[in-house]
Amino acid sequence: MKIISCFSQKGGVGKTTATINVSAAFGLMLWHETQPGQEPGRVLIVDLDQQANTDITLSGGFFGQRQPRNLGPYDNIAGLLMLDTQLPIFEIITNANIPVSARNVDFIPSNREKMLQVEPTLQSDPANGLFRLREILEPIERAYEYVFIDNPPGVSHLSVNSLVASTHVILPIQLEAASVFGLADSLKAIKSVQQKYNRDLQVAGILPTMCNFRGAGQREFYEGLCKQYGDLMLPPIYHRAEISDAFTSGLDIFSYKPARQSGVMTSSSSSTHEYAEVAEELRNRLDR
Ligand SMILES: Nc1ncnc2c1ncn2[C@@H]1O[C@H](COP(=O)(O)OP(=O)(O)OP(=O)(O)O)[C@@H](O)[C@H]1O
Ligand SMILES: [Mg+2]
Repeated sequence: MKIISCFSQKGGVGKTTATINVSAAFGLMLWHETQPGQEPGRVLIVDLDQQANTDITLSGGFFGQRQPRNLGPYDNIAGLLMLDTQLPIFEIITNANIPVSARNVDFIPSNREKMLQVEPTLQSDPANGLFRLREILEPIERAYEYVFIDNPPGVSHLSVNSLVASTHVILPIQLEAASVFGLADSLKAIKSVQQKYNRDLQVAGILPTMCNFRGAGQREFYEGLCKQYGDLMLPPIYHRAEISDAFTSGLDIFSYKPARQSGVMTSSSSSTHEYAEVAEELRNRLDR
């Protein structure tokens, strides 16, 4: 099982969007590879953000609602992190509601209100406060091939929990000064986690998001990053209204702009091609 943190110091760089779209792409890849009579490989999304944006999106965006489930207020990632739920993780995991990957992408939701209590609870436990997520994910080791974790922005006990539990990290970045400076800080935080808690953590890639290469500025940033980070760079995702429209509609891009042919991931939408390319490259890196 590969566990991939989507992490950045800076907020608003496209972490949640990347987590949802890359997870959908992985779900589709695994589904298309499934031989008759076999079960498809499974993907799990974990929403570790107190803003619960992944939860809002996957529950139908601002316009829809997921089927209500009879779970208590702590039966979510907050309850698991604070040991406040009686339910085992398998009963808290729900379907991710990603239409094109409904058969093999699951989800552990966040909770806006309860998540506020998590950071102080983790801080108050110096012995285990950074290792809770690693422990939580242990029982699912054989059930999932890939776990993608959407993180809150910045370095906190929550995001360090994610890095401690992960095998890999991807770093979404916007091609602008603040985000590029933030990347150096993110890499420092990752190095510190590698040195103190998780030697095996690998940076799987830096993902330029919301790119617009029409002016010279972003192109310059991109070329500078390619020079500095070389093979760590992932193919860029362009800034496109269809990506934020999909997000607002509670959908990943592959469900929002679905392929017409079966067995194919991409459609006439360029964004589906870009996310498919990122996912394929990322998978090569995760599995080598
Ligand atoms: N490629 C893109 N093209 C257009 N809009 C995008 C793209 N990627 C993300 N967005 C939009 O940018 C905004 C921020 O994205 P997102 O919420 O994914 O960032 P984030 O890093 O998760 O933010 P936070 O740090 O607050 O959790 C959202 O409104 C999203 O729809
Ligand atoms: Mg987010």
